[in-house]
Amino acid sequence: VREAPSHPDPYPYYDELAGSREAIRDEDNGWWVAASAWAVREVLESEICHTRPSGERVPRALGDGAAGELYGRLVRLNDGERHDALKAAIVRTVAGLDLDEAREIARARAVAVEAELGGLGEGAAVTRFAFALPVQVVGNLLGIPWSRGEDVSRWLRDYAAAVGAATIGAAMPSEEVLARGHAGARELLDLAGGLHADPAAGGPLMEALASEGAGLGCADEDLVANAAGLLFQSYVATASLINSTLLALARHPDVLGEVQRDPARLTSVIQEVLRFDTTTSSTIRWLAQDGTVAGREMKRGDVVIVAIGAANRDGDLNADPDRFDPNRRERRYLEFGAGAHACPAHGLAPVLAEVAVDQVLASGTPLDVLTERVRYAASPHIRTPIFG
Ligand code: HEM
Repeated sequence: VREAPSHPDPYPYYDELAGSREAIRDEDNGWWVAASAWAVREVLESEICHTRPSGERVPRALGDGAAGELYGRLVRLNDGERHDALKAAIVRTVAGLDLDEAREIARARAVAVEAELGGLGEGAAVTRFAFALPVQVVGNLLGIPWSRGEDVSRWLRDYAAAVGAATIGAAMPSEEVLARGHAGARELLDLAGGLHADPAAGGPLMEALASEGAGLGCADEDLVANAAGLLFQSYVATASLINSTLLALARHPDVLGEVQRDPARLTSVIQEVLRFDTTTSSTIRWLAQDGTVAGREMKRGDVVIVAIGAANRDGDLNADPDRFDPNRRERRYLEFGAGAHACPAHGLAPVLAEVAVDQVLASGTPLDVLTERVRYAASPHIRTPIFG
């Protein structure tokens, strides 16, 4: 189940898993798998399923450095009271964003990034573009100058490589990877800290986060870390959605034709990609205490792999779930999670993806060039097509 996100077609396997309504015990690996729509929702909405094991809020491997400091403060990786106040501040902040303004900023930046890359036209450039644009736009909304875009991406990559070991089953990071991860986290914290300290420098996202957070009694250090967290959450997930949408268009020439005739159709294409070829293929939870979850008796410390990608193809959510149909009515998916940790950017992320895909189409990049050389990045959770 941890190899499924990087498999070319995990869906027959996911179908099999989602056939069990209750969570499945995987004795070989010693974890549970929730895959039906019902089971996934049960786990995500359960108060006893936490985002970290109780005794190890910050992975020991991250030690006392900046990567551990950042990790330990993120809303994504905290539960209970500390999570709730921060989450409320973040939800209000992101919900308060003017999406039309974000779209305009993204459009202008998309033209500039394409030019900086020397044009699109082939897979590697499209992949670089998909990774660069969303995080630069979210960075700009926080107040980060465009000129720091490359640095921010590098710091995020270094931090991500170090925390990769934090999830079970991944290899321990080497001293070098760890040192780079701490250095990247330090830079991100310093950059966000500077924007938080200087209201004139902060963008609308930072300004709102600081004022909403202060109103809810959040500590400044937590707000700074979570500003960096917004960059982290934007980075790989949105790039993955962009590339998965391009793949879907390449594989469905009829849909591509419709989008070329009427670019507004892209909105519903992206919604269908979110359901059909899920970016957050899975997430993970740990039991904070014994209890019944998704129909099974679980014990404190148990691990649950939450297969969102399988749930989104469950016939209980949508009729004819294996059909790619952008015209689907009343589409239902769990792609942005559910319960306490649901994604606050369910409105923003598709807008960023739409602008990026639109730009690639306008560049005239032939989509069959992308499908000729595509592989999925190695990840136990995120499904990221890499072109070129
Ligand atoms: C296509 C793009 C995206 C997808 C598919 C996505 C999906 C998700 C999912 C499934 C979760 C819940 C994870 C879990 O419960 O374990 C989540 C959490 C989160 N996402 Fe997103 N996300 C996307 C983009 C973004 C962007 C652009 C931002 C910020 C601007 C963002 C901010 C967050 C935050 C802060 C959380 C943590 C919420 C919490 O733990 O309470 N996401 N996202």
